[in-house]
Amino acid sequence: MTDSFVAAIDQGTTSSRCIIFAADSRTVAVDQREHRQLFPKPGWVEHDATEIWSKTQAVVAGALAKAGIRADQLKALGITNQRETTVLWDRATGKPVHNAIVWQDTRTASLCTQLGGDAGQDRFRDATGLPLASYFSGPKAAWLLDNVPGLRRRAENGEIAFGTIDSWLIWNLTGGTDGGVHVTDVTNAGRTMLMNLETLQWDPAILEAMNVPEAILPEIRSSSEVYGTGTGQLAGVPVASALGDQQAAIFGQTCYDVGEAKNTYGTGSFLLLNTGNRPVPSKSGLLTTMGYRIGNEAPVYCLEGAIAITGALVQWFRDQLGIISTAAEIETLASSVEDNGGAYIVPAFSGLFAPYWRGDARGVVTGLTRYVTKAHLARAVLEATSWQTREVVDAMYQDSGVQLTSLKVDGGMTSNNLLMQHQADVLDVPVIRPIIAETTCLGAAYAAGLAVGFWPDLDALRANWKRAAEWTPRMDASVREREYRNWRKAVERSFGWLD
Ligand code: G3P
Repeated sequence: MTDSFVAAIDQGTTSSRCIIFAADSRTVAVDQREHRQLFPKPGWVEHDATEIWSKTQAVVAGALAKAGIRADQLKALGITNQRETTVLWDRATGKPVHNAIVWQDTRTASLCTQLGGDAGQDRFRDATGLPLASYFSGPKAAWLLDNVPGLRRRAENGEIAFGTIDSWLIWNLTGGTDGGVHVTDVTNAGRTMLMNLETLQWDPAILEAMNVPEAILPEIRSSSEVYGTGTGQLAGVPVASALGDQQAAIFGQTCYDVGEAKNTYGTGSFLLLNTGNRPVPSKSGLLTTMGYRIGNEAPVYCLEGAIAITGALVQWFRDQLGIISTAAEIETLASSVEDNGGAYIVPAFSGLFAPYWRGDARGVVTGLTRYVTKAHLARAVLEATSWQTREVVDAMYQDSGVQLTSLKVDGGMTSNNLLMQHQADVLDVPVIRPIIAETTCLGAAYAAGLAVGFWPDLDALRANWKRAAEWTPRMDASVREREYRNWRKAVERSFGWLD
């Protein structure tokens, strides 16, 4: 097996990447490219799906070239993706009918309120595990059908395909207009608000309520099976997994037992807890969501604390405010002061997700005095990530009774020691990072490799997990409690900014 590999594509919110893995889960090559973020109006966020597809092709070519291998040495290709981002395209031309509406986009907030009607935000929660919020794909598709002239008629005629990014990529990878397969997996379908968590099929009552024609929807498949065969530069390679990026991360972190959890720090942060083969309803503002499904095996469910903005706050600090010139600089700047100087930043740029689900929230900075410097603000930027995580960990405990004894972490921000130490401090448990911090790609590769027998079973994958770094808590309890109170006061100030 030394000359055979598995590749994974991670199509994320800000960039696309392809990683090639060897059988011992060693990273052989990585290639990555960013794509444009389009902000046509306040609260709106779009991507050009055509650009995403071309960047995806470029990173596959880049990774193959860096690895110095041929496509026929790839035993499988796995896909993982930013979730909820919605693309509608013309089946005949393969062209998107509009820019993709990104998960962070808030344009459907009022549509979601209307859809809730008298039943309110939880109208579809029993069926889907999700509150009505602008985050999810179904209302985004409904918005496009209502706002792109003539689109609804074309959709009802079967001319239009809907997909989250996994579907869009798989369709293109397997031939596009020339026989591309139109599928999605349970983890991505589960984030549309159109899939029933029990049947794992599209829910006819919700489709009717949201006025989304079934003709546009992909077939829902498991997360680990061969959906089709690659074409072009990936001719003959089995396309064998799809998982939303957070589910791929929990799979790559090998959290296969009930009670195991991980937190991924990317554009946002997403803490998922494996709850086993039954969906566990949340009363504390978490999402009940799919974990993964391997072939015909029983599906695995999770509770999820979804935080919209964490790493994106560092990007905003860099790009919109220009206070730092690289993301890495924030650690140096923040480390130049002892504490936050009393300042807190609540980054409610897309409203607030878990555990609040407040579409009316907007970002606030509190506690400003003349004393506060850019270094204190840098600290407040980082601390916003750890306090938001603390809130979802508390909600997780209320819903599941599972008290974390440690937290497995991954994602770009885990290279920030100051942040990871603060995270351990505010959770009061050790925070542990594995050697392969790219668990999102790794999870997609694992699921694809399992489907084709490249790896035999979950035990073989678990044996690959190795600890690289650990941060142990050292904050005084009284400081922790005082600062948490301040954080929560700041959060309350973020509510109620929509007319
Ligand atoms: O639900 C949104 C999430 O999947 C996005 O993750 O890391 O690409 O920003 P990321």
